[in-house]
Amino acid sequence: MFYEPKDGHGLVKNPFNSLVVPRPIGWISSIDRAGNVNLAPYSFFNGVAYSPPTVMFSSGRGQVEDDNLKDSVRNIQQTGEFVHNFSTWDTKEAMNASSATSKKDVDELADAGLTPTPSVLVKAPRVKESPIHFECKLIQTVELPNTTGNNQYTVVFGEVIGVHINDDLIMENGQIDIGRLHPIARMGYQDYAEVTLDTVFTMERPSFHPYAK
Ligand SMILES: Cc1cc2nc3c(=O)[nH]c(=O)nc-3n(C[C@H](O)[C@H](O)[C@H](O)COP(=O)(O)O)c2cc1C
Repeated sequence: MFYEPKDGHGLVKNPFNSLVVPRPIGWISSIDRAGNVNLAPYSFFNGVAYSPPTVMFSSGRGQVEDDNLKDSVRNIQQTGEFVHNFSTWDTKEAMNASSATSKKDVDELADAGLTPTPSVLVKAPRVKESPIHFECKLIQTVELPNTTGNNQYTVVFGEVIGVHINDDLIMENGQIDIGRLHPIARMGYQDYAEVTLDTVFTMERPSFHPYAK
């Protein structure tokens, strides 16, 4: 089939989310000016540059507050900071729980039964149960054009200014132990994928790549 998104897809559900898979999950903690903590998952998320290390996530409009912003975006625009907490098999239920739509003064980190732990360089707390954290400084937000009128997306770009890695994830050869990390990823619909040592495979690149070092 071929479809032009502006004319609709003709399927029971919009397939787009199932066509860009698997997606890493940005699990974003932030605080507002008053210090209220917020935590939410975003699977329109990725690393977009090695140097300086840079991540992005994309947020649709919120439906609870008057400004129609999701709390993560409002907080990051207010404070210029956020943390990405790595989402694993062990934290999957809490990650999902933290996606609840709630008022801006609700602390989803506490509500999901998670433990806040201080960051080093930013004020937003980290999720202790997560084994990897990126402390991020806002680079800029970009408003995507709202051509379909369905939703308006704001893309948040952040420079990773601090990286935490649980020491027991670092193997003797200096590489990350993916089996122990046990990442999860977002698929379409209500589906997720898990990454285990059984599902990882290796391929050498055809030629030396300067950034692969
Ligand atoms: C796995 C997962 C991925 C999600 N990805 C996104 C996303 O990429 N963009 C988005 O706007 N909402 C996404 N959501 C929904 C948000 O997490 C949800 O709207 C949340 O309430 C936003 O919280 P906030 O207003 O506290 O920032 C996702 C939810 C889940 C469970």
